[in-house]
Amino acid sequence: MNKVNVKPQTMLYPVPSVMVSCRNKKGENNIITISWVGVVSSDPPMLSIAVRPERHSFNMIQETKEFVVNLPDEKLLYENDFCGVKSGKNVNKFQELQLTAIKGQYVKAPLIGECPVNMECKVKEVINLGSHHLFIAEIINLQVNEEYVKDQQVDLENCRFFTYQKGTYHGLGEVLGKVGLSVRR
Ligand SMILES: Cc1cc2nc3c(=O)[nH]c(=O)nc-3n(C[C@H](O)[C@H](O)[C@H](O)COP(=O)(O)O)c2cc1C
Repeated sequence: MNKVNVKPQTMLYPVPSVMVSCRNKKGENNIITISWVGVVSSDPPMLSIAVRPERHSFNMIQETKEFVVNLPDEKLLYENDFCGVKSGKNVNKFQELQLTAIKGQYVKAPLIGECPVNMECKVKEVINLGSHHLFIAEIINLQVNEEYVKDQQVDLENCRFFTYQKGTYHGLGEVLGKVGLSVRR
């Protein structure tokens, strides 16, 4: 196993590619694709997103301290990419992509109806880390398409999510095993 030293850079792959929706105080909606998203606490349920200040969405989230994390499935690959290469400065992404903006129950930011999972988030802390600001937020409401919920339990096994890996999107492939397989006989 011969190793080579390479310039330090973020090489955490694969990562999710989520669609974050937001709304400014003027009532304009926008969507930004975010891969630098992570779970940071389960109780209270919290996640973080890293956003560059030059993004149109940055000021919207900074001023309202609210956003919705929407999980796209494979059917939304085009829309997910579009929201990651076009800026809301120049295009209304909801309109252009004919996506359904559903009113949030606890935040003013809209949910993307076509995404099977939607997390309404309120920002608790913002940390300027250099190229990106980290928005740490609490998930104050979770909405899931009813076909993925049974007796209040969310089962996403049949959801066709995809991942992002250094310039390319990948499907999830087959299930390789269940948690605990290393200790189960
Ligand atoms: C797969 C993918 C992942 C991305 N992840 C991030 C991210 O984590 N943070 C970020 O600031 N920009 C990220 N971007 C870039 C923004 O989505 C892109 O600049 C977008 O056009 C900004 O939209 P806005 O100007 O309307 O906010 C990503 C783009 C793609 C295609």
